[in-house]
Amino acid sequence: MDAGSLHARAPSRFVWGVSTSSYQIEGAAAEDGRGPSIWDTYCRQPGRIANNDTGDVACDHYHRYLEDIGLMGRLGIGAYRFSVAWPRVLPKGRGEINEAGLAFYDRLIDALVAADIEPWLCLYHWDLPQALGDLGGWTNRDCAHWFADYAALIARRYGDRVKRFATFNEPSVFTLFGFCLGGQAPGISDLTMLLRAIHHVNLAHGAAVDRLRAVVTDASLGAIHNCQPCRPAGDDPEDLLASQKLDAYWNGAFPDPQLLGRYPPLLVEAVAPHLRPDDLDQICRPIDWFGLNHYSPHYVVANAANPLGIGFGPAPANVPRSSMGWPVDPQAFRDTLTSLHRRYGLPIYVLENGTASHDEIDAGGEVSDQPRIDYLRAYTAAMFDAIDVGADIRGYFIWSLLDNFEWGSGYSLRFGLVYVDYPTQRRIPKASFRWFAQLIKDHPICPAPAARGRRAPAVARRPG
Ligand code: FCB
Repeated sequence: MDAGSLHARAPSRFVWGVSTSSYQIEGAAAEDGRGPSIWDTYCRQPGRIANNDTGDVACDHYHRYLEDIGLMGRLGIGAYRFSVAWPRVLPKGRGEINEAGLAFYDRLIDALVAADIEPWLCLYHWDLPQALGDLGGWTNRDCAHWFADYAALIARRYGDRVKRFATFNEPSVFTLFGFCLGGQAPGISDLTMLLRAIHHVNLAHGAAVDRLRAVVTDASLGAIHNCQPCRPAGDDPEDLLASQKLDAYWNGAFPDPQLLGRYPPLLVEAVAPHLRPDDLDQICRPIDWFGLNHYSPHYVVANAANPLGIGFGPAPANVPRSSMGWPVDPQAFRDTLTSLHRRYGLPIYVLENGTASHDEIDAGGEVSDQPRIDYLRAYTAAMFDAIDVGADIRGYFIWSLLDNFEWGSGYSLRFGLVYVDYPTQRRIPKASFRWFAQLIKDHPICPAPAARGRRAPAVARRPG
């Protein structure tokens, strides 16, 4: 199958959606036979997570998924991206299958299909089974095969109802922070481990693509990459070098081998000791789309405290910031979209974009999150600009449906369109929820790529 015919299979309808992930929302961490993941372990190490929060209960989505699908129905989204918790279906990561875990995703998928919401299934959003972590996790080359076997199990079970599969969510983020920079499971800081993990995750991607394709012949496959411009924070030439290094590891280490069949020049020598002769061919398998997660650019400083010598500095004073301090820069989103389109030539789905804000329930019981609306309005406008100049963008998913467990920040950051009152698990749609529902109503379809250049009336295209 050549890449051209794969691209042609992608639909031209624009899809609006929301994204979540298993560990961040499901809870039920010890229920129905789920095995522990490396995040269960990491959260139990004192001081790792704000307030020592864990994903044990999270949004209790495992029990409340029907209510959550009801919320999706009210939004009017066409697609929902979720991840399967590998240790829920294979408690030890391989071997014995947990039927109760598989049955949960059957119920979820059936309810989505019944609600006319397309399930987009991501195989890996960071919750590696601890039993595999004990064997070295991603630093062990065998992990690629364990992952491919897990992918085949998922394909066989759900491939009749699920056609959209992503292999990995943000491989650069979980490898860089988990094996070098700190802040994520498994909490290692070692350059060799990082390089091994990077290469084995790439191998796992390629192997899973082959297995998914073999089982679900009409599948539409991709991987989800977090791509952000990496800019030096200051004038120091060391900062410039650090920003170039981060760019190679963050933006190139996965899409380049997966889509171009080569590592970025800055990584070639470092990865070489871990490469076997056919590896790059096995990694670079044809896929159907590029999944992009984008939030804001990085401002990079040199920092000797970690093996890569990289640190995150402040954005220049004139760059607006969200309430959690991330730069707000829609132009960087537009530029990222257009450059990814040029570099990889695949249709792009934006599979995460959004912002945290300090949301509170007001006296009237409402959550008015105007900063989130402002952010989303500016970023969706930037996306439409990218479409105007020819980027083939087929969908936009907001992170996230619900406030949830935000990794090292625990429950202290709220990213949801829906406020979650954790003590009661009550869901309260925020003002941004109504804004997004209206956007979807007003813009059901984006111009298909074929219609590029034929300008639709501005009013029918601009959000908000
Ligand atoms: C992304 C992650 C997602 C969430 C958002 C805010 O990097 O994929 O799980 O944490 O950031």
